[in-house]
Amino acid sequence: MSENKKHFPPVPIEGQIGEPWVVLGDGRGLADWGRDDEIAYNQTNRQTEKALFYRRTFDFLTDNRVAGDYHEYGCHRCRTFRMSLTEARRHNQTDMHFHAFDSFEGLPEPTTDTSVEIWTRGALTTSEQDFMGMVRDHGIYADRVHTVKGFYDQSLTEDLKRQYIDSGRKISLINIDCDLYESAVPVFQFIDPLLQEGAVLYIDDLFAGYKGSPRKGVARAFLEWQGRTRWKVVRHLDIGWWGRSYIVYLDKDAAVGVL
Ligand SMILES: C[S@@+](CC[C@H](N)C(=O)[O-])C[C@H]1O[C@@H](n2cnc3c(N)ncnc32)[C@H](O)[C@@H]1O
Repeated sequence: MSENKKHFPPVPIEGQIGEPWVVLGDGRGLADWGRDDEIAYNQTNRQTEKALFYRRTFDFLTDNRVAGDYHEYGCHRCRTFRMSLTEARRHNQTDMHFHAFDSFEGLPEPTTDTSVEIWTRGALTTSEQDFMGMVRDHGIYADRVHTVKGFYDQSLTEDLKRQYIDSGRKISLINIDCDLYESAVPVFQFIDPLLQEGAVLYIDDLFAGYKGSPRKGVARAFLEWQGRTRWKVVRHLDIGWWGRSYIVYLDKDAAVGVL
């Protein structure tokens, strides 16, 4: 395997003394580079950025004494979910519960025009059983993981919202990772009464799936929600080219519409 195919650990960008001032893969190193290499390269780099986000955010939450539960809307391969479990364990979050909301049947039929042709009904499916298998294999706080199965427009009911409100448990960290505008709309509606000051909103697909347009996709759902909620958000961390996190706070005089 050539130097450029060693993705593990992810390819660091190293400086060098002299032009072009960084070490770059060259024609010899990339001679037999193919599509599989590209996928592995992107995945390793992307998941590394996400893992760094979880590390930083659990430090933020712990340092600021923001207690609450983890919610993930879009759980698929249990990658980010496992990151939350690992960082919760590292930060000794012994009271945190972890809520996994997913159809466990993949995407619904898209009703908006996305730019990703593979986002079709049933894409990105992981069954509930396989998901819980990964949680158990991971071996951290599995007894505090709860799944809510179903498409959000049907599963995120007023009754379920009431149960969460009545439990008195707030969200400290939420990952919205469900790709589509129409999937994100009911999620923002559902989480609104469960937020608290200091809660972190991680919006994974802010610039994905709709050519980065803030008028479309999850970004649009996020902006629309900001127009109707009492909560304000301040930008916190960037996660790669695709996502951002925000801290939730209250201030009736602050401007709305932050991206
Ligand atoms: C990109 S994947 C999530 C990746 C995951 N966070 C990980 O790290 O492995 C998107 C997920 O969103 C779920 N999803 C998208 N729209 C949904 C909807 N309307 N209702 C329920 N689940 C949905 C899909 O089933 C899929 O599991």
